[in-house]
Amino acid sequence: MRTLREVIEDARGRHVAIGHFNISDSTQLNAIAEAARELGVPVMIGASEGERSFLGTRQAAALVKAFRDQGQEIYMNADHTKSIEGIKEAIDAGYDEVLFDGSELPLEENIAKAKEAVAYARASGRDVLVEGELGYIGRSSALLDKIPEGAGLDKTDPETAKRFVTESGVDMLAPSVGNIHGMLKNAPEPRLDIERIGGISAATNIPLVLHGGSGNSEEDFRAAIKNGMAVVHINTEIRVAYRKGIEAGLAASDEVAPYKYLAVGAAQLKEVVKTKLQLFTNP
Ligand code: G3H
Ligand code: ZN
Repeated sequence: MRTLREVIEDARGRHVAIGHFNISDSTQLNAIAEAARELGVPVMIGASEGERSFLGTRQAAALVKAFRDQGQEIYMNADHTKSIEGIKEAIDAGYDEVLFDGSELPLEENIAKAKEAVAYARASGRDVLVEGELGYIGRSSALLDKIPEGAGLDKTDPETAKRFVTESGVDMLAPSVGNIHGMLKNAPEPRLDIERIGGISAATNIPLVLHGGSGNSEEDFRAAIKNGMAVVHINTEIRVAYRKGIEAGLAASDEVAPYKYLAVGAAQLKEVVKTKLQLFTNP
């Protein structure tokens, strides 16, 4: 079985991307794993600090490992981790990747903490990838009335990105390039800055990670992936699909068996995941 590093390097070399989907429960995980398996493509699962506090840090790793043990290329990321304690906990729990999110810290502190995360990952004895983040793009995967204050304003500059990567030693970088966490209710998402993505990719020469993928256009995804985005994160869109499906499942009858009404949500979530994976792996 390939390591996550090998999977991402391979995707980067072929100018395609790995889909990364967030979960809060095992029903969502099963649906995402099934979608990827049916398409025969690798997939990444993410759980942020909030999602891990609900699902359990070790529980998430164990659930993903169960699919791995059956031969599926599925990998676990400790998404948006703001403390070094959280990074250490996830690495100790067997995660394939950790994202140290210092996007709201001053640059020097972001570099110093990302470097600490890298040192812990390297000392783990496993090949754990460390992702760093530059530029604030909002905090929540939710339906939004407007862009959160300050989000997306501090776009990542290629020279700063180069310095951040060189000094911290991170394996992957999440830049701010017009992307926003969450999805606007009544307006299209801002456009991605493709030229900037290309500039950051050339300056850093490491795989880039596109966060806040919900709501972005196919055209923007295609161009972003061709210009260096090797991983694309989707959360809000699958949360919406899951909720709508569960609502429909509950409305249809007096059913009380969770595995029956949750299955309707899972089916709708799975369709979204499949559509995204098809696009990301064939941009
Ligand atoms: O890390 C998670 C993502 O960046 C999800 O963003 O909710 O806008 O799809 P999204
Ligand atoms: Zn994100």
